[in-house]
Amino acid sequence: MCGIVGIAAKKEFSSSFLLERLKRLEYRGYDSYGYYDTKNLEKFVGEVVVTGDNHTKLGVAHTRWATHGGVTVENAHPHVSCDGRIIIVHNGIIENFAELKKELIIQGHRFSSQTDSEVIAHYFESKLKHKDIKQVMVEFFRQAQGTFAVLVMIKGDEKLYALKKDSPMVLGLCKGMNMLASDIYAFSDLTDKAVFFENNEFAIITESSWKFFDKNGKAINKSIKKIEWENEEKERAKKKDYKHFMLKEIEDEPGVVKRMLFSMDNEQKQVFNKVIKLIKSSKKIVFAACGTSYHASLLGAYYLHQVGVEAQTLIASEFKHYANIDKDTLVIAISQSGETMDVIDALKYAQEKKARIISIVNVLYSSIQRMSELSINILAGQERAVPSTKAFVNQATLLLRICQELGYKVNLSNLADKIKALLEQKEDIKKLAEQIAESKDAYIIGRGLTYPVAREIALKIKETAYIHAEGMMGGELKHGTIALIEEGTPVISLVNINDPDIISNTKEVEARGAGVIMITNNPALRKEKNTVYIHTDNDGKFGILAAIAGQLITYYAADYLGRPIDKPRNLAKSVTVK
Ligand code: F6R
Repeated sequence: MCGIVGIAAKKEFSSSFLLERLKRLEYRGYDSYGYYDTKNLEKFVGEVVVTGDNHTKLGVAHTRWATHGGVTVENAHPHVSCDGRIIIVHNGIIENFAELKKELIIQGHRFSSQTDSEVIAHYFESKLKHKDIKQVMVEFFRQAQGTFAVLVMIKGDEKLYALKKDSPMVLGLCKGMNMLASDIYAFSDLTDKAVFFENNEFAIITESSWKFFDKNGKAINKSIKKIEWENEEKERAKKKDYKHFMLKEIEDEPGVVKRMLFSMDNEQKQVFNKVIKLIKSSKKIVFAACGTSYHASLLGAYYLHQVGVEAQTLIASEFKHYANIDKDTLVIAISQSGETMDVIDALKYAQEKKARIISIVNVLYSSIQRMSELSINILAGQERAVPSTKAFVNQATLLLRICQELGYKVNLSNLADKIKALLEQKEDIKKLAEQIAESKDAYIIGRGLTYPVAREIALKIKETAYIHAEGMMGGELKHGTIALIEEGTPVISLVNINDPDIISNTKEVEARGAGVIMITNNPALRKEKNTVYIHTDNDGKFGILAAIAGQLITYYAADYLGRPIDKPRNLAKSVTVK
């Protein structure tokens, strides 16, 4: 994963400015960070701290999500070559780094980190002895295997060199400076003009010029994209005094649901209608997604089955092993970030098989959006907390809206108000969450439509509260897992009034001493102990609202335990490695 930034400016800027830009990308990784500004090389373990008034016209910075090598200052970027002339930052993985490193060691290079990335600095130093920088970049594309967005600085040279293959990179054309970054959020308050790198391209950037080349060194023309920022910047500005972004983002849900639904009838109406048409004309639908987005896709498959559409959903990292697709298949990628490497790989496989591709994303101009024939934006606004909440709600609601168009009976006009009403129960939910917080394990059970929701709640609890949780089909418990239920084991049961079999599964665990929390839309159960009541008799809406109740339970359990809610350990928001 990792986030990278490089700035070439007409006037001097401070290291704080550079780090402020990096901070905007911190959700891509937050193990360690560092920067180089032509005079100073600074590296630290931990989250980005925006400070310092070193001044420079050129600099690069990096925030790391460790892959090769532990979380140490030595492994933090930038990495520097032996002679100190080459400084690099890298996002991605150089798969054949060991091979390249071996050769460089024979030449006398000494390495000071355990990373794969350091090899890039030494590689450039070695090759630059005999070749010019353009030739070295062309050669790098030939020799380096894996994925990379790399920024290279050469001491005494006032340019930035940028190379991209499979890891995201974009150039922001800002007033008085050009800024390279892993994504557009680095400069969303500074410009609405950007140039996106495609795979196998490199660029030479100065404060006032940018030249792009293909991997063979042939100059290419690139177009400038004008970006709509309105929502992003407004959302940043309205960050109130929440203790955590996660709670703020849960509370944003009524607003973002409304915005997305409105958009399907207005500015995104055309693309929405095309998507419906394509679904109707496809022989089968296969979703590709990971994590929370995968759970949304499971809901999508459920809704589609309700309206008679053949649909399947696959975890993107396993896509090529299980997908049976051809030109009559419609592959729907769901991804909040639009950059998840596993999803990108699944789409490459879909392209090989000539399947048609559409996507549901939250980040405009993302790689997945750009790989799709049609793409719908869920308009959830930037999610800053690593645990995804409002994006899931908008993904699921959009899938429901699509199925409504295909005949699924649901009134979505009051969904935002129903979410608001649920959020008003947060003090009661907080008390329930504290019961879970005391436990080592938790089980969440659902059936049919609430099975994906059970899995989503379990994922949220694991990643945010660090409590082991399993989300499963209620009917499956008795086939083994019930052996783990003991006196007091917490079980969250998603009791949908239209699927009463879950009541028997709930009773089965209760009889064995489980501490049951019910999330239900059954009015007859409303007054039961430890119950969150959701006022809707519609299955589709119940699923979404039950997931939100789960988000609140998770949030309050994690807060009770003092977890670093917005940045759980070992995670990153945008997962751009395999
Ligand atoms: C969990 C979470 C992750 C992501 C997953 C896919 O809260 O956010 O499980 O859902 O990494 O990411 P996207 O949706 O960006 O493809």
